[in-house]
Amino acid sequence: MRVAIIGQGYVGLTIAVGAASAGHKVVGFDVKECLVSQLNSGKSHIEGISDSQLKEYISKGSFEASLDPTVLDGSDVIVIAVPTPLDEARNPDLSYVHSAAELIHNNVKSPALIINESTSYPGTLRKEIAARITGIEHLYASSPERVDPGNTEWGTKNTPRLIGGLTPAAVEKAKEFYSTFCDSIIEVSSPEVAEAAKIFENTFRQVNIALVNEFAQIADALGISGREVLDAAATKPYGFMEFNPGPGVGGHCIPVDPSYLAHVANEVGVPATFIKRANEVNLAMPAYVVKRVVAGAGGSIKGKKIVVVGVSYKSNVADTRETPAAAVIDLLRGQGAVVVWHDELVGNWRRESSSPIAGADVAVLVTKHDGVDVAAIKACGYVFDCTGSIAGVDGI
Ligand SMILES: NC(=O)c1ccc[n+]([C@@H]2O[C@H](COP(=O)([O-])OP(=O)(O)OC[C@H]3O[C@@H](n4cnc5c(N)ncnc54)[C@H](O)[C@@H]3O)[C@@H](O)[C@H]2O)c1
Repeated sequence: MRVAIIGQGYVGLTIAVGAASAGHKVVGFDVKECLVSQLNSGKSHIEGISDSQLKEYISKGSFEASLDPTVLDGSDVIVIAVPTPLDEARNPDLSYVHSAAELIHNNVKSPALIINESTSYPGTLRKEIAARITGIEHLYASSPERVDPGNTEWGTKNTPRLIGGLTPAAVEKAKEFYSTFCDSIIEVSSPEVAEAAKIFENTFRQVNIALVNEFAQIADALGISGREVLDAAATKPYGFMEFNPGPGVGGHCIPVDPSYLAHVANEVGVPATFIKRANEVNLAMPAYVVKRVVAGAGGSIKGKKIVVVGVSYKSNVADTRETPAAAVIDLLRGQGAVVVWHDELVGNWRRESSSPIAGADVAVLVTKHDGVDVAAIKACGYVFDCTGSIAGVDGI
C-alpha cells in the first residue's frame, strides 16, 4: 500500500518503519525541516529505530520523509500521529490534530483510509477529524498508539492493536493494513471505544502511580520501607498489580492523557475526581523529594553542590517532556543549592549541559539509565534515590 504518515515523532516514525518493514511504500510527512532532512540522511532521532534500519528502507525506496503536503494525495492509507498536548489551562490542545485534518482536506483528492493514532478523547476521530474533511468519501478509523519508547519486550509488532472505525469498510481496511505488521488486531465497536480505551489505560497508570506515591509517604512517616511493603503485597498471586513510587510522572502520556478524559467527563457532567487527585499527588512529588533531601542533608542545602542524576522522564530514553526532574532542580535551586545535572543520554537540556557526577555534596537520583556510574553517585556525601535501585541509601 502507499502509506503517508503525518508527524514523524516517536509514534509516526515507529509506524513508518513498521509499515516499511511490511513492504509498504511509506512517506513520512512532517513540518520540521531539520527533522525531515535528518531522516532522509538516514539518521533516526528515537530509541528503538536504528540508523541502519532507516538507511535500509530509504535505499530500498520504501521510506522517505517529506515537507511537501502534496505527497499525501494518492495514498491508500494516511496515518495521523501528531502531538496532543495540554494548553496552559491544562485543557486538551487539539490544534495539531486540526492542522493535520486541514492538510488532508486541502491536499488529498482521492479516497483514502484515514487513521488517527494520536491520543485523544472519545469523539475526536468523528467530530474533530472526519467532520473537518469534506468533499471526498474517505474511510476513517481510530487506532490509538500504545508504543512504550525504550521497551524492548513490547513493540509495534507484538502489542495488540485496537481498531474502531466509522464504518465496517473502514474497519476491514484498517485490519488489512495493520495485520501486515502487527500480530494481534482487536476490533472494537466504534472509534470512541478505541479512543476511550487508550486514555483509560493511561489514567489507570496515573491513578495507581499516585496511589503508591502517597503510600510511599505514609510508609516513610511510619518508619517502614514502602517498597518492601509493595514487594510483599505483590507476592499475592491475584488481585494486586505492583506500581512503583517515584519523583512524579513525565512524558507525553501519563501526565497528559488523563486530563483529556477529565475534560470530556466535565463536558458530560461527571466529575473525574480520581484524575484530579492523582494529578495533585503526582505534581507534589518533586516538593516531597526536595523536603526529604533537605532533611537528609542536615536541614539546609544552601550553598551545597547537588547533582541530579537522570533528567529524562524514564530510564534509557532521552525524552525530557514533562519530566519531574525539572521541578526537582528548580525547587533545589529555590533552597539555595548549586545544582548541576548528569544525563549522558539527554546531553543538552534547558540551555545547560550534562555535568560529571563526581565532586557533588549531594546526589539525587531521579532516573536511572543503564550504565550510569553508581559508584560515583555513592561517593557523594549524601545520596537520595527516587528509583529504589541503590541499596542502603535514603530515598522513596
Ligand atoms: N511518545 C509516546 O510514547 C506515545 C505513545 C503512545 C501514544 N502517543 C501519542 O501519539 C501522538 C504523537 O506523539 P509523539 O510522541 O509521536 O509526538 P512527537 O512530538 O514525538 O512527534 C510529533 C511530530 O508531529 C509533527 N507535527 C506537528 N504538527 C504537524 C502537522 N500539522 N503536520 C505534520 N507533522 C506535524 C511534529 O513536528 C513532530 O515531529 C500523541 O497524541 C501522543 O499522545 C505517544
